[in-house]
Amino acid sequence: MEQVRFAVVGLRFGRSIVSQLQGNSFVRVVAVSDLDPAKAGEVASEYKCRTATLEELLADPEIDAIGLFTPPAGRSELIRKCIENGKAVMTTKPLERDPAAALEILRFARSRGVPVHLNAPSPLPCGELHRIDLWREQYALGRPVAVRWETYVHYREQPDGRWLDDPEMCPVAPVFRLGIYGISELIHLMGRPETVNVFSSRLFTGRPTPDNAELAIRFADGSLGSIFASFCVNDGHSYPSALTVHFQNGTVKKRQYGPAFAVPRAQFDRVELELDCVCDGKCIHETCTTSAEERSGAYQWRNFAEAVRCGSPLAGEISPEDVASGIAVIDAMRRAEKSGRPEPVEIPL
Ligand SMILES: NC(=O)c1ccc[n+]([C@@H]2O[C@H](COP(=O)([O-])OP(=O)(O)OC[C@H]3O[C@@H](n4cnc5c(N)ncnc54)[C@H](O)[C@@H]3O)[C@@H](O)[C@H]2O)c1
Repeated sequence: MEQVRFAVVGLRFGRSIVSQLQGNSFVRVVAVSDLDPAKAGEVASEYKCRTATLEELLADPEIDAIGLFTPPAGRSELIRKCIENGKAVMTTKPLERDPAAALEILRFARSRGVPVHLNAPSPLPCGELHRIDLWREQYALGRPVAVRWETYVHYREQPDGRWLDDPEMCPVAPVFRLGIYGISELIHLMGRPETVNVFSSRLFTGRPTPDNAELAIRFADGSLGSIFASFCVNDGHSYPSALTVHFQNGTVKKRQYGPAFAVPRAQFDRVELELDCVCDGKCIHETCTTSAEERSGAYQWRNFAEAVRCGSPLAGEISPEDVASGIAVIDAMRRAEKSGRPEPVEIPL
């Protein structure tokens, strides 16, 4: 497959994307852009590519796709410019802050045949969700009952005036910044979210936003979900993730280690899954591992390149409505943080 000629816009987190893409078989970074020209120049000289403004990139026929790694507020307007100029977009979680704007822009992208992908939710289910879907069908696990998801890291942050200090821009901060991957997974597993509530606290952070949080979600089918995300835990692992999902006839557990000094490399390169269920009156126990390259939250570069080349959605690609549901959960979470009460998830039509 021909490599996608890619320009990365927004070079704080985006810089790590430029680094990650060195040697990638599907996508080649040919240009970078940032409102701060010094930052752009530094990244361009380190990775041997050119700098340009967003407007120059949009007008450049040598660019197939834009990576938007700018802050989330109002991102759909930048995405619109890319679509109008025929440039595919890879961006990052969360797509937008406004669920209606997210839905509208994704529908617009589909109508123009321009791919807009992001890492969470990913266009196709990540490796572990794919395996859970297969088990669900193979062993008739039945309706989902409850799910718990967690992740954590050890940060001691100080305020710096960025969006991370603002509860409007970064609601329930640990969930918005880390637990957001769990929101996508829970919607995939449980379906339509209906009501959310949150608890949060500030244990060690110097920022005004919390560093320890729990999000609870009730789904339309009566199943229940919770997400724990924290910047307060130092057990030697960074960003490990764990999931326990109970179905009517079985339980699946996922464990993914984060980079940690105490764990051999091979162990955090994979995701471990375990199933216990009852099927046709027999107790079944299965385990398997999936590659961390396909893990939740990974950027699916091969799928992106395929979509850019074929100009139509991938078979089984997540719908604009499901992406917007996740953003509607975040919006309800923002309201719940302010009101201190459960809030309805208002999914746009
Ligand atoms: N693991 C992940 O996938 C991951 C990790 C960290 C952050 N993120 C996401 O990355 C996004 C950006 O986060 P951040 O912490 O880097 O934000 P930031 O505000 O610190 O940096 C954004 C950068 O984009 C530049 N920028 C803004 N608008 C621009 C424009 N129109 N043209 C060119 N450059 C522009 C700014 O100058 C700045 O350098 C957020 O959505 C965040 O959630 C993802």
